[in-house]
Order: sequence, then structure tokens, then C-alpha cells
Amino acid sequence: LTTDHVRIVEVGPRDGLQNEKKSISLETKLELIERLSKTGVTTIEAGSFVPAKWVPQMASTSEILQHLIKTPPQSHNQIAYNYLVPNIRGLENLIKVLEAEGATAGSRGDSKSTTTTEVSLFAAATESFSKANTNCSISESIERARPIVTLAKEKDIRVRGYVSVALGCPYEGTDVSPSKVAEITATLLEMGADEVSVADTTGMGTAPRTLELLRALAAAGIANSDLALHFHDTYGQALVNTVVGLEHGIRIFDSSVGGLGGCPYSKGATGNVATEDLVHTLHGLGMHTGIDLEEMSRIGAWISGELGRANDSRAGKATVAR
Ligand code: HMG
Ligand code: MG
Repeated sequence: LTTDHVRIVEVGPRDGLQNEKKSISLETKLELIERLSKTGVTTIEAGSFVPAKWVPQMASTSEILQHLIKTPPQSHNQIAYNYLVPNIRGLENLIKVLEAEGATAGSRGDSKSTTTTEVSLFAAATESFSKANTNCSISESIERARPIVTLAKEKDIRVRGYVSVALGCPYEGTDVSPSKVAEITATLLEMGADEVSVADTTGMGTAPRTLELLRALAAAGIANSDLALHFHDTYGQALVNTVVGLEHGIRIFDSSVGGLGGCPYSKGATGNVATEDLVHTLHGLGMHTGIDLEEMSRIGAWISGELGRANDSRAGKATVAR
């Protein structure tokens, strides 16, 4: 292992909540984001600028952005709040909120607690998932991404790309080509994305197939420092696959507190790997995350209760019970 620091991207308030059956109030979402901001985590996905018709759970995203600009949570570290934008319209709506508040994407807040605004765009590794999720083909989604990156760069907004269903698709099974994933990833980076998160949306990835994918990404000339891994724990393989990623040199991983989430297109899919489980594993391996596992565990227990769902983090439940 070359370095022992891992950056965790907390995706609970977006990827988690967007896939929960129960919608929670704006106040509860803000409380979730505020509490997460004090755990030591440095990137939080805070919402999504999508039509409410497509994802009703993300309807209050403008208010969340507005709130985080006006009253940034008092954290001890710099935090980047990230918003998903499915098309240029989503980014334009985000910029409208920033400009209406007289803000830019750059630092806000006092010298201790500064915040920045970032965006994520996404493409899928299979045609059928691309159609179901974004109503367009893979190549159309790449073309949709170009103007988003251009406008974001103009406004000094950092851009993250996602490649979903990279290790399995609800329609096409595990027949996903690693070289196709590498090709899409390389294209997103070439067009200016600052990092790409390769996502096992269905949790179908296994250790050997994760390694095969990482080798295909390396063979395409993609640097580990430009990559994040995003595992779902549907088949209980997320932490095994995380270790494969770590050994390969990846140092950015996505997770959601309490294991929030699921996937509306794949039956039985569970949420993202729980942040508490990921942190526990990383700390056990001697890695550093800067995250307070006890506080993260309390948040996981609390938000699971708010959603009326079981807490999906084993390390979280054990930590709270201690
Ligand atoms: P469409 O219906 O083809 O779009 O959806 P359209 O351009 O025809 O527009 C339809 C209506 O929405 C129009 O309004 C537009 O003005 C409006 P109407 O004329 O019907 O009144 N509209 C918007 N409104 C607000 N914000 C916008 C926006 N854009 C258009 N941004 C679209 C195309 C891309 C919008 C849709 O397919 C969509 O939103 N898809 C995204 C759904 C989504 O968020 N899925 C989850 C993403 S997460 C994921 O993929 C995986 C990931 O989490 C990683 C992992 O876990 O594996 C990243
Ligand atoms: Mg996810």
C-alpha cells in the first residue's frame, strides 16, 4: 500500500435517500447533512438536480444548496458538497441557486470550516441501464456530459463522473465488458472530469472480476488517483472488493451511512456499502479516514429510525451497542 489515507465520499443524502421508499422532510435531510459534516468526512453528496417526476425524493435539493451556502455547518475540516446533475439543465439550475445567493463554487465559511460546491454526472456501462435510468443511449449520455463539463469548468466547479453498472446490470447480468467501462471512464476524464467513480450498482461484483476491471482501467492508461470505487453490498461482497481496490492502489471509496439506499431497477438490491462498515474495515487495516466511527454509527442508527428501516451497518450497530 503506497499511502495510508483513504478519502471517503459519503453518498447517503443523495444516492442513499433517492432510493429509499420513504421520503423524509427537508429539516431531517439538513440535520443529516449537518451531522455528517461533523464526523470528519470531507465529501458529502447532498442532493440531485433532477426532475421531481424522475426522483421525487430529491425534490428539495435547491433548498439544501441554498441552506449550505447561507449557513455552512461548523465542521473542523473543509467539506465539498456534491450534487448530481443528469443534464445541462440540472447544472444550470444549480448555478442559478449559487448566483442568486451571490456565491461561487469556491470556498465559503470561516477559515476553519470552508465549503465548496461540486457536481457529479453519470453514464452507464450498458445500453439497457442507460435507457432505463436516463432515457438515452450510452453515446448520447457521453454527448450530454460534454456541455456539463464545459460549463462547470467555466464556473470553476469540480466535476466527478460516474460509470454505473460497471460490474453487473439488472438487465444484462454480469456480462458487462471491463474494456467498455474503461473506455467510458477514459472518455469522461479526457473531456475534463476531475475523477470518475466506477460503480457496482447491483453489487454483483466479485473479487476476481473487480481485479479484472481494475486491470482493464490501468491498461487503458487511467491513473488510480483519478478513480473512486463505489460498491453496493447486495451480495455481501463490498468489503472484499474494497480490499481488492485498496491493494490495487485506489484511495477513494464511496459509501452511505447506515447502508442507505437500494436501486429502483434491480429487485432485492441493497444500499451502498455502509460508511460505518467501510471505516471499521479501513481502520482495522491501519488506514486513516479522519472519520469518527462512533459519531458516524450514531447517525446511522438515528437516520435508519427516521426512515423506519433496519440499520444495515453491522459495524455501526455493534459500535452503538458498545
Ligand atoms: P427525459 O424525460 O427524457 O427529459 O428525462 P426531457 O428533456 O424530455 O425533460 C422532461 C421534463 O423534465 C421536461 O419538463 C423538462 O423541462 C424537465 P416538462 O416539459 O415535462 O414539464 N427537466 C428537468 N427538470 C428539472 N431538472 C432537470 C431537468 N431536465 C429536464 N435537470 C433526464 C431525462 C436525464 C432528465 C431523466 O432521465 C433523469 O432525470 N434521469 C436521472 C434519474 C436519476 O437521477 N437516476 C438515478 C441516478 S443515480 C445512478 O445512476 C447511479 C449512481 O448513483 C451510481 C450507483 O449507485 O451505481 C450514480
Ligand atoms: Mg450507489
